[in-house]
Amino acid sequence: MAAGKETQPRNTERAATGNVVVVSHPLIHHHLTRLRDQRTGPYEFRNLIRRLAVLLAYEATKDLALRDTSVQTPLTSTAGHELKERIGLVPILRAGLGMVDPVLDLIPQAEVWHLGLYRDEATARPVEYYSKLPERDAVDVALILDPMLATGGSAVAALATLRDWGVSHVKLLSVIASRDGIEEVEANFPESQIYVCAIDPDLNPQKFIVPGLGDAGDRIFNTFAGED
Ligand code: PRP
Repeated sequence: MAAGKETQPRNTERAATGNVVVVSHPLIHHHLTRLRDQRTGPYEFRNLIRRLAVLLAYEATKDLALRDTSVQTPLTSTAGHELKERIGLVPILRAGLGMVDPVLDLIPQAEVWHLGLYRDEATARPVEYYSKLPERDAVDVALILDPMLATGGSAVAALATLRDWGVSHVKLLSVIASRDGIEEVEANFPESQIYVCAIDPDLNPQKFIVPGLGDAGDRIFNTFAGED
């Protein structure tokens, strides 16, 4: 990476629309730049995804509800707090898997509900291939985990699945989103909260985010074999 002059990234903590939070932090800018670099191999890429997932989750969980409790220290009893609601992590396969463990480290009691979605290469529309949500007993808060929000089709499909399950409070955590993808989610689910590290300006004709970072799933799992 070429060294540049000293700059302070623009503080974009809140995007123009109310429910989108672009989390701005020096560590995010630093790690995101390494993540985008085409020379970054799968081992480092996975580590960077983990670090960014923690920073996103820290921001996205700021409004989780608490209830009062008490705790016995070695010295005395004192007042404390504990999470009040059932929290579900909903990774979108495959790339969302890379964000699960770091967020589980923050919220060990969270439930993990996997959703399998892939994008049809010809149409760029999401195809669901795995979902085992129970019919009832939805979690109170769901965190959808997917590093990339490109056209927004996969996120909208995931949000529809969670709405049908009965989840009232959904947060979408993505490392990079496109402008179009954000608009698509907001048009379909205006109440959803979106947390991203960056909003990139473009989608290419194959609907990849530009500048983006390429295919997050392939970079996490090192599955470029067989590509043309
Ligand atoms: C990528 C990415 C998102 C989706 C985003 O997954 O991880 O799930 O595409 O695109 P969209 O916003 O246009 O729907 P992909 O379909 O490549 O599957 P993978 O994670 O198994 O590689």
